[in-house]
Amino acid sequence: MSSEPVHKIVRLLLLGLVILGCFMTPFFMYFKPSKSCLFASVESIAPRERIEEVLTTNDHNDTTVLIWLWPFGKKRDKVNICASKFSIDGCFITTDRNLYNKSDGVIIHHRDIHSDLSNLPPHQRPPFQKWIWMNWESPSHSSKLGNMKNLFNLTLNYRLDADIPVPYGSLVYTEGEDNFAPPSKDKLLCWIVSHWDENFARVKYYNELQKHIKVDVYGRAFNKCITPQEYVSTLASCKFYLAFENSLHKDYITEKFYNPLGASTVPVVLGASREDYENVIQGDAFIHVDDFASPKELADYILQLDKNEERYRRFFEWRRHFKVKRPVFWAEHACVACDYLRRHRKYQVIQNLDKWFWA
Ligand SMILES: *[C@@H]1O[C@H](CO)[C@@H](O)[C@H](O)[C@H]1NC(C)=O
Ligand SMILES: *[C@@H]1O[C@H](CO)[C@@H](O)[C@H](O)[C@H]1NC(C)=O
Ligand SMILES: *[C@@H]1O[C@H](CO)[C@@H](O)[C@H](O)[C@H]1NC(C)=O
Repeated sequence: MSSEPVHKIVRLLLLGLVILGCFMTPFFMYFKPSKSCLFASVESIAPRERIEEVLTTNDHNDTTVLIWLWPFGKKRDKVNICASKFSIDGCFITTDRNLYNKSDGVIIHHRDIHSDLSNLPPHQRPPFQKWIWMNWESPSHSSKLGNMKNLFNLTLNYRLDADIPVPYGSLVYTEGEDNFAPPSKDKLLCWIVSHWDENFARVKYYNELQKHIKVDVYGRAFNKCITPQEYVSTLASCKFYLAFENSLHKDYITEKFYNPLGASTVPVVLGASREDYENVIQGDAFIHVDDFASPKELADYILQLDKNEERYRRFFEWRRHFKVKRPVFWAEHACVACDYLRRHRKYQVIQNLDKWFWA
C-alpha cells in the first residue's frame, strides 16, 4: 500500500486549494456570482482525485494478489503474466502464503473450501485486504457452506453482476470479416456430453428431441469419446449443436456455448434465459429451446433451416465484427481481480453470499 502517503499529500493539497478557493470566492463573485463555494469545490475535487488515483497506481508493482487455494488442487507455474498477457500493470500474483500480511487480495476458490471453513486464512485480515470468493460452478453444483455472511469482500464469478465478472467467454470487437462463411458441414445436429443424469433438464429434452430429428452424439455418456484434437473439428462439422448446460441458472453460460460458437456452429441453447444470452450476443446468433412449445417444434424448425442456406448463414452476422474470446483459466482471473483491486480501494463486503448466489 505504498500509494497511501501519496494520497495523503494529494488530499492535503486539494484541501488547501479548496480553502484558498473559499477565500478567493468573494473576489470572483463579482464576475461569476452563481455557484456556492461548496458546490464548486465538490465538482473540482471529484475528477481530480480520480485522475490522481490512476496516476499513482499505474506502473507500480504495488498490488499483491495471493491465490490461497489452487482451484481443484492443480498447481500452475505461470501466473505472473498480467502485464505481458493481459496488459494489466502493477500486479504481483503469488501463491506464497508468507506474503499473506501484505496481500491486497486473497483469492479463495469455493470448491476447495472445507465445509467447516478450517482451511481459510487463519490470521487476522489486514485492514486493506479483501477476500475474493471465486466460483465457476452453478448454484446447483456448488455446496453451500456454513456461515458465509460477512466473510468475503468481493465475488469473482461468471455472473455479470458479480463484483469482478469473468464470464466463460465474450465477444470482442475485431476488424471486419465481411465475407465470413462457415466451414462446410456434413452433419445437421450434434451433441457431445459426458455427464448423464436422467434428472437433468437437458437429458429430458434430448430424449424427446431425438424422436423427431437425428442427433449425432459423442462423449462419455454415449461411449463415443473424442480426443481433444478432434473436439473443435467435430464441432465445426455440425450445422447446429446442442449447447445444453447441466443446470439452469442466471448467466450460467459456459464453454458449452462459447466453444461451438467459436467453431462456427450454431448453438441451440438450454440453460439461462434468452435475455441472459442476449446480454452476451445478439439474439439471432443462436436458437433457444424456450422459443419453441415442444422439442418437436424445435426439430421441425431445424429441419426447415437445413433447406435454406441463405437463412442459415444469417446466424453468423455477428462474425462480421466480433470474435469469441475465452479467458485463460486461472491466471487471467487473478490478473482481472488485481486490476479491480487497484481501481477500487474502498471498503466492500458481501453481507449475504448465500442470498446472492443460491437464492
Ligand atoms: C514486483 O515484485 C516482484 C516480487 O516482489 C518482483 O519479483 C518484481 O521484480 C517486481 N517488479 C517491479 C517492476 O518492481
Ligand atoms: C501476519 O500478522 C499476524 C499478526 O497480525 C501474525 O500473527 C502472523 O504471524 C503474520 N503472518 C505472517 C505470515 O507473517
Ligand atoms: C472485508 O470484509 C471484512 C469482513 O466483513 C471486513 O471486516 C473488512 O473491513 C473488509 N475489508 C475491506 C478492505 O473492505
